[in-house]
Amino acid sequence: EKGGYDHFMLKEINEQPRSIADCMRGRLDAKNGRLVLGGLRDYMNKFQNAKRIIITACGTSWHAGLVAEYLFEEFARIPVEVEYASEFRYRNPVVGPEDFIIAISQSGETADTLAAIELAKSKGATIFGVCNVVGSSIARATHAGSYTHAGPEIGVASTKAFTAQISVLTMMALKLGYQRGTLSESRYMQLLSELETIPSKVERALKLNDKIQVIAEKYKDSRNFLYLGRGYNFPVALEGALKLKEISYIHAEGYPAAEMKHGPIALIDEEMPVVFIATKDSSYEKVVSNIQEVKARKGKIIAVVTEGDDTVKHMADYIIEIPDTEEAFVPLISVIPLQQLSYHIAVMRGCNVDQPRNLAKSVTVE
Ligand code: M6R
Repeated sequence: EKGGYDHFMLKEINEQPRSIADCMRGRLDAKNGRLVLGGLRDYMNKFQNAKRIIITACGTSWHAGLVAEYLFEEFARIPVEVEYASEFRYRNPVVGPEDFIIAISQSGETADTLAAIELAKSKGATIFGVCNVVGSSIARATHAGSYTHAGPEIGVASTKAFTAQISVLTMMALKLGYQRGTLSESRYMQLLSELETIPSKVERALKLNDKIQVIAEKYKDSRNFLYLGRGYNFPVALEGALKLKEISYIHAEGYPAAEMKHGPIALIDEEMPVVFIATKDSSYEKVVSNIQEVKARKGKIIAVVTEGDDTVKHMADYIIEIPDTEEAFVPLISVIPLQQLSYHIAVMRGCNVDQPRNLAKSVTVE
């Protein structure tokens, strides 16, 4: 049932070109400028007129929510808050009928997320679910929703569910921006056609596997890792670190690259691998200076860059070149090598990749 792969996680990583395409199938038709999310239809008015969007989730799903914050604010100009469900539910949040809540959950059974939904619902907010498991508790508790259609995810470490969540949230943000007029027709059309190319770009990114195995071999015995990115790649840094922690038991931290100088820089020495996500985007130059700062302190640099990058190559110990895309869509591609890196390191360390210690696939207790 692992389809010839050693682990479900590897199978699920490799399924992503298809799972992302499945998620967009029947919804996105770039040629005709069509984007239809069935679940959104009856709630589009509420969504469009929301004063605020609150996204609530846990773990990897919360990281997808962070990516969505950038997407919704950029394309639709609606303020967004992203909340850990466990914090939201217990702090008597200010929430009401004018808020549009998006709850993200692969399993649809996460206890804290479910409780956060019930709380927001009791205050009159509209709740929209982004779930993978059809008919799950969260899918049933929400007013409306869009499924991610990633197919069953068995590995405890979330991979294809994450990229499918981002795909749904991206489509929601584009639709919202277009309807609100914050996104021009021509830009909207341009973004839709680029979005359609993502599955094939993910396919290309997956081909870097052998190179990533070499990097894994080199750093598998490290005791700590730092992951740094800015903008859309900041949540990707958090996600890369979480993946490594949960399956390889190596301590890892993800940070916005600019925050490094406010503390984590003290950790840098010749033993510390630092994974930079340094794709060609609006914060590229700044990330390059962050790379220089790490290099000056003899940290080891593994950099995820855009294909053809000629600057970081001369600074990094290893570079991983991924296909270029719109800045807003980069997380769908830049997360792929980080998933592979954590997978290979965990395998090399003899860890139980699909069922890491102390973790459950759905966290149904708070
Ligand atoms: O099923 P959910 O998306 O609600 O689960 C949330 C987290 O428990 C989950 O993403 C967890 O962090 C994963 N093991 C991460 O890989």
